[in-house]
Amino acid sequence: MHHFQYTQNVLWCEEIPVPELARKVGTPFYLYSHATLTQHFRAFERAFAGMKHLTCFSMKVNSNLAVLRLFALKGGGVDIVSGGELYRALTAGVEPEKIVYSGVGKGIEELEYALKSDILMFNVESNQEIVKLNEVAGRVGKKARMAIRVNPDVNPKTHPYISTGLKENKFGININDAPEQYTLAAGMKNLKIGGVSCHIGSQLTHVSPFVDTLGRMKKLIASLEETGINIGYLNLGGGLGITYDREEPPHPREYAKAVKEELGTTDLTLILEPGRVIAGNAGILVTKVLYTKNNHDKIFIIVDAAMNDLLRPSLYNAYHAIQPVNISTRDNVKADIVGPICESGDFFAKEREVSSFEPGELMAIMSAGAYGFSMSSNYNSRPRVAEVMVKGDRFYIIRARETYEDMVRGEEIPDFLMSA
Ligand SMILES: Cc1ncc(COP(=O)(O)O)c(C=O)c1O
Repeated sequence: MHHFQYTQNVLWCEEIPVPELARKVGTPFYLYSHATLTQHFRAFERAFAGMKHLTCFSMKVNSNLAVLRLFALKGGGVDIVSGGELYRALTAGVEPEKIVYSGVGKGIEELEYALKSDILMFNVESNQEIVKLNEVAGRVGKKARMAIRVNPDVNPKTHPYISTGLKENKFGININDAPEQYTLAAGMKNLKIGGVSCHIGSQLTHVSPFVDTLGRMKKLIASLEETGINIGYLNLGGGLGITYDREEPPHPREYAKAVKEELGTTDLTLILEPGRVIAGNAGILVTKVLYTKNNHDKIFIIVDAAMNDLLRPSLYNAYHAIQPVNISTRDNVKADIVGPICESGDFFAKEREVSSFEPGELMAIMSAGAYGFSMSSNYNSRPRVAEVMVKGDRFYIIRARETYEDMVRGEEIPDFLMSA
């Protein structure tokens, strides 16, 4: 359910027609619906209402300050993977005791920054990181609360690039090695064991891999408790999928029900790290058609957004629905939707049946609220696009379109090149 709907053949976001926004903001731009973000966050929260839990929005998905602030005001925390994300989270007003930190390559400065910020938990992903965290915590005079991010070796049955819980993936510590690493960590002066953690992948469309994983985590927790290591938090990561095309992923309610059944009565506090399921369908990318061309039997629709703005189709061959902002009465065509970047991989859809767009018309690339702007870049020296949030009949530019000056900020031509 989202708030991008047609009224009299025009696409609206909540109570504003998209063409009006395009006129005021220019194209391309990301457009988020406040009501949809709120509704998705609430649905997730409600699903887990009967269980002690903390919802930590996975901010790699969408790290705009306004989006983070919205969830912080609703009591949410965040899942971070870098010092930069920590900075954004704190700037947006997320409480440090609701921040959990994953990632296979946390740098020393990043560990220090997170320790000094008193975050809730480090999800540690290797033996060497355990040792380093203990060392850095000692140096800054803090005790680090930690969980081991366990790799449970469960197949999430998703795209290989977004599968993270198989033993061939780089993430976490193998579940069979985890007890030994917990014993080691328990003996370290500056570490405090807080929990166990996992995340098996993204865009999961069945509950069974989650249930499988939970079963394995329960066994691990029981075996740790036998050795006197008490676990307070169980972090199940994120991963719940959304409908991009015809997928029918479980509703958060079904996911929570399956978790509840498998977990049984417990004193554990769950940590959940949903990302895509909250933000994915709460955002679209609005772009304008620049040209169309027929290369013999192939039609190309060339738009002003490109792979640098939304990478998912190029990176994972991901599907995004392509919709006209103004529905026309013209027949559909089969076309490739491509951007201006000098790469054949710069496409949003291939051989897709779409409305026969004309130059100047607006196109909505749907389900772009997750892993959209946050994965964007300046490739081909294209300034990053604006981000807009609509709330009812009002809109807010929550990130200004970059200028050429923004793009070269920090670059310098050394003197020896100036004199030439
Ligand atoms: C550790 C961790 N938690 C949560 C997520 C969010 O996943 P999703 O957007 O599928 O909910 C990710 C994404 O890769 C992740 O790496």
